[in-house]
Amino acid sequence: MSHGRNEMMQSERDWAPSVEIPYAPRHGAKPPVSPPQGDQGQAHFTEMHSHFVYGLDDGAQTYPEMCGLIDQAWQMGVRTLYATPHCVPGIKFFDRDLLEKHLQEARLYCREKGYDMELLPGAEMLWTPQMSYALNQEHLPCLGYTRFALVEFSPSIEKNDLFMAIELMIEAGYRPVIAHFERYACLLKPGTAERLKRKYAVKLQMNAETLTLPSPLMMRLCIKGWLKKGLVDCISSDAHHVQDRPFAIGKAYEVLTQCCGQNYADFAAKGGIFQED
Ligand SMILES: [Fe+2]
Repeated sequence: MSHGRNEMMQSERDWAPSVEIPYAPRHGAKPPVSPPQGDQGQAHFTEMHSHFVYGLDDGAQTYPEMCGLIDQAWQMGVRTLYATPHCVPGIKFFDRDLLEKHLQEARLYCREKGYDMELLPGAEMLWTPQMSYALNQEHLPCLGYTRFALVEFSPSIEKNDLFMAIELMIEAGYRPVIAHFERYACLLKPGTAERLKRKYAVKLQMNAETLTLPSPLMMRLCIKGWLKKGLVDCISSDAHHVQDRPFAIGKAYEVLTQCCGQNYADFAAKGGIFQED
C-alpha cells in the first residue's frame, strides 16, 4: 500500500461524505443531484481497464468504434490508457500480435488527432484452474510493461478459492489487480476485502460506474466502508462502447473527490498503484 496514501487516509479517518453515493430510487424518490462537473481538460486520468481496441472481445468491434472510444477518453481527460481485452490464459489463445497491431492503429489515430495520450497493452484475465498452470508456463499479458496483472473471477467464486488464486499469482511473481472487485459476492461480506488486502499484496479496482450510477442500499454501504478504509486502489471505467458502458472516470473522479478528498481521488484515478513500487 502506498505510504503517501496511508498518511492521507490516516488524516481522513473521520471521513464524512459531503456527497452521497448514488442510490437506487424507490417509490419514485429522486436520487441526489449530481456533483458539479469541473474542467476535466487538465485531469490527466489513467484508465487501466478498458476494451477500446477493436476485434478482440466484446468491446469495440470496428476501427471507427475504437476511434470513438479514444475520442471519448481524450475529451474526458484520460492521458494514459491501457487496453485490457478479455483473455482466458491456459484455455483460449490470446492474440497478442492482433492486439499490438490494432493498438498501433490506435496510436497512429492519436497522432493524427494530436492527442498526447499514452496507449499501453494489457489484458483482463479470467481466473480458471488452468490459469495456475499458465502462470508458470508463459508470460501473462500484464498491464503495460509492469508485473501488475488485471484478473477477474466468476462472480460466485468462493472466498477461499479467490484467496488461493491471489496467493498463486503472487508466488509466480505477479502483482494481481482484481478487476471490478465489487462484483464478487464473497468480497461483499464485512471485513473480507480488508482481510484480503492485509494478507496479500493485491490491488482492488472498482468500476467508475459503481460510483456514478444508482446502486442498492447494501452496495452503497459496502462502497462507503471500502472508501473509508482506503481499500479501493483504482477507479477505472471498464469501457466497452461509447453509448453502452462508456468511459465514466470523469464523473467518478468528481464523486470520489467530494467523498474522500482530492488526494485519494488523484491516487485512484491517476494511476497511483503504478507509482508506489
Ligand atoms: Fe473488463
